[in-house]
Amino acid sequence: MPEFTNGRHLVKEYPSGYPIPGRTTAYDTSAKINTDSVSLNGGILAKLLLISVDPYLRGRLAGYTPSKFALEEPLAGYGIVKVIRSENDKFHPGDILYGNGRIRHEEYSIITKEEAEHVVAFKPVDGIPLSVYIGAAGMPGLTAFTGLKEYGNVKKGETIFVSTAAGAVGSMVVQIAKKEGLKVIGSAGSEEKVKFLKELGVDVAFNYKTTDTREVLQKEGPIDIYWDNVGGDTLDAVLENTNEHARVIMCGAISGYNGEPAIVKNLMYTIYKQTKLYGHLVGPLLSKYQEAFDKDVIPKLADGTYKHREDKVYGLDKASQALLDVLKGANVGKSVVVVSED
Ligand SMILES: NC(=O)c1ccc[n+]([C@@H]2O[C@H](COP(=O)([O-])OP(=O)(O)OC[C@H]3O[C@@H](n4cnc5c(N)ncnc54)[C@H](OP(=O)(O)O)[C@@H]3O)[C@@H](O)[C@H]2O)c1
Repeated sequence: MPEFTNGRHLVKEYPSGYPIPGRTTAYDTSAKINTDSVSLNGGILAKLLLISVDPYLRGRLAGYTPSKFALEEPLAGYGIVKVIRSENDKFHPGDILYGNGRIRHEEYSIITKEEAEHVVAFKPVDGIPLSVYIGAAGMPGLTAFTGLKEYGNVKKGETIFVSTAAGAVGSMVVQIAKKEGLKVIGSAGSEEKVKFLKELGVDVAFNYKTTDTREVLQKEGPIDIYWDNVGGDTLDAVLENTNEHARVIMCGAISGYNGEPAIVKNLMYTIYKQTKLYGHLVGPLLSKYQEAFDKDVIPKLADGTYKHREDKVYGLDKASQALLDVLKGANVGKSVVVVSED
């Protein structure tokens, strides 16, 4: 009877600033599981393969996004698992499942019938590694695609500015925008990330830590579309430098996730310039755009037209540090924890 230690990434306390690995969240080895005999009660026994380390996990630790995590329970998010046993007719041993936000950070878990409504079985397309399905081919890529389609009102020759442009979402926004014929300005937090942006074909790439964002926007703008991943003073700088009728796609506000909220002072500019501000959430737009994404974006990822970069670590015990790295900007590319390779 195979009884295993069932490693888990647990919430230990709620952070007030940056999460502290080993204190805010920690890897725990106190649970055991017998994978042959554990009761499934109509559910699925799944082995965790990959987890997506996303900035919004910080929100679920703090409660400023829905579904605050419970203390002493595993975190949960986007991820990929393999079915080991199943009492659910829809899924079979060996199936690979993609989970929308509810994949628990534990090496083996029981996916209940209700939770199974939020997973899909899939086979990677040739040319796209499994892990890319939690990055450019999954939620972050879909965030970029749906936001631009729904709110961008993109017109060839316009100028878009993308903050956090080298990240999982940003790097897809800049590539789709280039394909649409936009002039693309992208900012990122290191020289290595700026180099990556140039490889992606970004027209004006700069390090916002060493170059003044306002100066770049004054020289290279005005801005027709702003893809906002950070909020705060960067958003203020953009509002000062937009064209009339600009669209601001508010996707994230990471500059305020770990301390004081990202305060914005320049909203009055939106009146005179008739700027449109759109709060963007990927989930509600999936049913409208998944098919178009599969048709337009997946083939371009498979043939290398769209590039992607991953920042992989190995072992669930690395998840706490990986989350801190994403929140501090130490990741270069989509942050992925490889929990098991088979
Ligand atoms: N609305 C939605 O449906 C949705 C879905 C997915 C993601 N998002 C949001 O999209 C944004 C990007 O997510 P992602 O998954 O692609 O993450 P990511 O860009 O791969 O990683 C996060 C990046 O944020 C930047 N950052 C961290 N602290 C910052 C700060 N104080 N000021 C400015 N930038 C900071 C860092 O890049 P630099 O080194 O370049 O600063 C870091 O690498 C986040 O705001 C996230 O919450 C929204």
